[in-house]
Amino acid sequence: MAQQFNNELNPQIWPDSVRRSDFGELTIGGVGVSSLVKEFGSPLFIFDEAHVRNRARSYASAFNAGQIQTDVYYASKAFLSTKVAKWLVEEGLGIDVCTEGELAVALRAGVKPEKIIFHGNNKSVAELETAVKAGVGRIIVDSLIEIERLNQIAQRNGITVQVLVRLTVGVEAHTHEAISTAHEDQKFGLSIASGAAIDAVERVIAAPGLSLLGLHSHIGSQIFDASGFEIAAHRVIEFAALVREKFDFTVTELNVGGGMGIAYVEDDDPLNVEIMAKAIHDIISTECAAVNFPIPKLAVEPGRAIIGGGAITVYEVGTVKPVDVSDALTRNYISVDGGMSDNIRTALYDAEYTVTIASRESSAVSHISRVVGKHCESGDIVVREANLPSDLVPGDLLAVAATGAYCRAMASNYNYLPKPAVISVNQGKSEVLLRRETLDDLLALDPGI
Ligand code: LLP
Repeated sequence: MAQQFNNELNPQIWPDSVRRSDFGELTIGGVGVSSLVKEFGSPLFIFDEAHVRNRARSYASAFNAGQIQTDVYYASKAFLSTKVAKWLVEEGLGIDVCTEGELAVALRAGVKPEKIIFHGNNKSVAELETAVKAGVGRIIVDSLIEIERLNQIAQRNGITVQVLVRLTVGVEAHTHEAISTAHEDQKFGLSIASGAAIDAVERVIAAPGLSLLGLHSHIGSQIFDASGFEIAAHRVIEFAALVREKFDFTVTELNVGGGMGIAYVEDDDPLNVEIMAKAIHDIISTECAAVNFPIPKLAVEPGRAIIGGGAITVYEVGTVKPVDVSDALTRNYISVDGGMSDNIRTALYDAEYTVTIASRESSAVSHISRVVGKHCESGDIVVREANLPSDLVPGDLLAVAATGAYCRAMASNYNYLPKPAVISVNQGKSEVLLRRETLDDLLALDPGI
């Protein structure tokens, strides 16, 4: 029997301040989504500032509740704007960047350079030079070639650069292959197993312009438990002990990367931050004790876990098309005014999302639906499996939850679609984080005939 559409909102999935008003409309930060769309247009990314600040604060405090001092850097690739960088620094985080562009935004936001760490497997010479001159806190080196380049730049500028060596530890985090990063056959890091890592460490120690602080590993993304970190930490600390033995050099810092997962759909059940932080601390203590290694300063660099759950995307429904999939199933294809250009994750990673009607509630029955975009491609799917009310009509607004990470950040202009605006709301007030692109912005790139 057909079930009535469920208007409820799972608080594990939706930003903290999202509610339904007495009239059934979705509100965020105390503001109705319809009025936000009226003011800023659709599609629209809306961040709940208090939610994001809260996550940042709880990461900083959970990771410093125990004995091990831990710096938390926000992985800004997940989403970056000057205001977001400012919020996060105010909540006690540093910023992880991996291009000159991300670095420029962080510096423009007034982030102190020493609170910035710089990543990347192919930082250009110009990017390294900019980062060194800006005085970034740490550079994570990712290849032997880069060690050479960075040493030259450091010496040329008369600066000693603090360095971590990125290790490949041979751990496959249980996540989609495209977002798991520490197994052997991929581009990141220097392999412990092959000997590249020990070679890199020897070169950094010998480089007059570089100062070796420690080691880095990042095992992947959307990780729900601490087991991957356990294997990685075991190998990294064993490696640190080897470095001590071989070069009489004790590293003092360990960055275990990011990757802490969030809930996109009902079945997702990530560890909460207090439990995750304690588990990681326990792992580090145990592994250090096993090889009699002094507990280093720790760093983590979550992106998604800070920003991902803090935003929704609001779309306007353009068409509703029932499609007979089989004798037993008619699926409603709900076309919205964005798509794979503002959220590529469904197409790229088979990502799952939760969607609901946002402009009103519905007492109609629920129907098996698929939310699709407006691009000329059948893979242009925003939410593959959705239960949406059968009375959806053009002009209704839909909201997709947990789109704060890797959606606007990975947006494209496919089919010459301008990128949506990104706003934040807090206690009834809204602010623009990134304005909507216009067609004129896009046409300005083309010098014309
Ligand atoms: N640290 C390093 C070195 C990283 O490469 C990444 C992510 C992070 C930290 C932050 O990971 P997070 O905590 O956000 O999972 N586009 C994919 C995710 C790619 C992650 C790339 N590196 C997605 O949409 O799922």
